[in-house]
Amino acid sequence: MPSIVIVGAQWGDEGKGKVVDLLAERADAVIRFQGGNNAGHTIVRNGETWKFHLIPSGILYPGKTCVIGNGVVVDPKVLLSELDGLRARGVDVSGLKISANAHVIMPYHIILDHSGEARLGKLEIGTTKRGIGPAYADKASRLGIRVQDMLDEKILKKKILSALEPKKALLRPYERDPDFGPQLDLQRMTEDLLTFGHRLEQHIADTAALVWRALDDDKLVVFEGAQGALLDIDHGTYPFVTSSNPVAAAACTGSGIGPKDIDEVWGVAKAYSTRVGAGPFPSELHDETGELIRERGGEFGTTTGRARRTGWMDLVALRYAARINSLTALSITKLDVLSGFDRVKVCTRYRGEDDARFDTFPYHQSVLHHATAEYEELPGWREDISECRSIADLPQAARDYLDWIADQTGVPVTLVGVGPGREQTLWTEAGAASPAIVAAPVQA
Ligand code: GDP
Ligand code: IMO
Ligand code: MG
Repeated sequence: MPSIVIVGAQWGDEGKGKVVDLLAERADAVIRFQGGNNAGHTIVRNGETWKFHLIPSGILYPGKTCVIGNGVVVDPKVLLSELDGLRARGVDVSGLKISANAHVIMPYHIILDHSGEARLGKLEIGTTKRGIGPAYADKASRLGIRVQDMLDEKILKKKILSALEPKKALLRPYERDPDFGPQLDLQRMTEDLLTFGHRLEQHIADTAALVWRALDDDKLVVFEGAQGALLDIDHGTYPFVTSSNPVAAAACTGSGIGPKDIDEVWGVAKAYSTRVGAGPFPSELHDETGELIRERGGEFGTTTGRARRTGWMDLVALRYAARINSLTALSITKLDVLSGFDRVKVCTRYRGEDDARFDTFPYHQSVLHHATAEYEELPGWREDISECRSIADLPQAARDYLDWIADQTGVPVTLVGVGPGREQTLWTEAGAASPAIVAAPVQA
């Protein structure tokens, strides 16, 4: 039975949570493999909204094995409050497993994230200020605290001391700050972490072994990406990126499997584009059309509440995302938001400063920063499509728009979102025929 990786094919917030929830019903295990609580994944079921930052989007199925893999950075305080919130709403969270090797976001990481952004001033990246970058930096510097360290007081204290040593000068101004100072006290930090560790202990496990077992037993395994291809630290619009690899390859390193264990890679993309935070965005709209898309699409961040920047679909970026992820399928969400336009535009290539044209994603930062979008226009549709329940119900112009995206990217579309609800999902022929769907029918 296949294993599927679900990744963001744009700048994040494409609707990965919804797609993972749809597939999770059929799956034996759902695994987050990178990022941290910079992610915000939304699921809407029977009118009820659920937002996940760290816990995999399969948790709403009672007892489902949901893994936080070794590649994730975990803020234990956020994880515990997410768990408490789910329990309070009656969700069975017994299936949650946390890798003992995942790294911990410490209070000083959050402070350093704030101070780093403040230092950059106008050039700030616009991070979520959740400590993601500094936590991954410590991991690479071999100064990270891992989940397993929260279970051993002696090791923990020693590791915190070593981690704090090179940061002393940067943290000094915060020591007297009434908000930040107390969090930097070594004793308090150690005690807090031990308490968190104690509360999470029942969930801490050798998660790679769990994933291997599910694969060996021929079960459907779903890997849940966070962020998106253009935020990838290697392949995205560096330095305006996150600090992990949101591309499909990271499902391997972030969970403990090899590339041959992956059968399908589904890229999730909105029918248009959005971006939160700073950085190049060639198809960005600064006019009332952009405002209209923001309003209709409810484009305000799940994690920080920031207004998302909006623009037309960018095929140069999407083709690039297809290549760097080996996408086998595309899931197009929020098609309903494009209803009401006489014409819809799609960016098909970039124009550089000196009138050079780019059909492929430019590697050079100066080119990218000055790139403007060239568009093709397609007929729009005026009908409300949120009640459509099959592709055949869609207006011809909407179907043509989807066919055109598939054609231009060379990647088949498996499902289309016409609203946030589970039922507002249209499966295409390619989707229904996908090995994951055929091999893992929903259990009655
Ligand atoms: P993620 O980070 O990729 O999981 O995406 P987010 O949850 O941050 O943002 C996607 C938003 O769009 C959420 O509010 C979803 O409920 C919503 N959404 C997902 N699919 C659709 C869709 O097809 N149509 C509409 N209108 N909203 C959708
Ligand atoms: P999901 O999983 C959209 C963006 C931030 C910022 C940059 C770096 O919900 O799609 P970080 O805090 O990671 O150091 O910030 O990355 N960013 C996201 N944008 N969706 C996300 O996650 C994001 N996670 C980080 O806005 O520009
Ligand atoms: Mg999100």
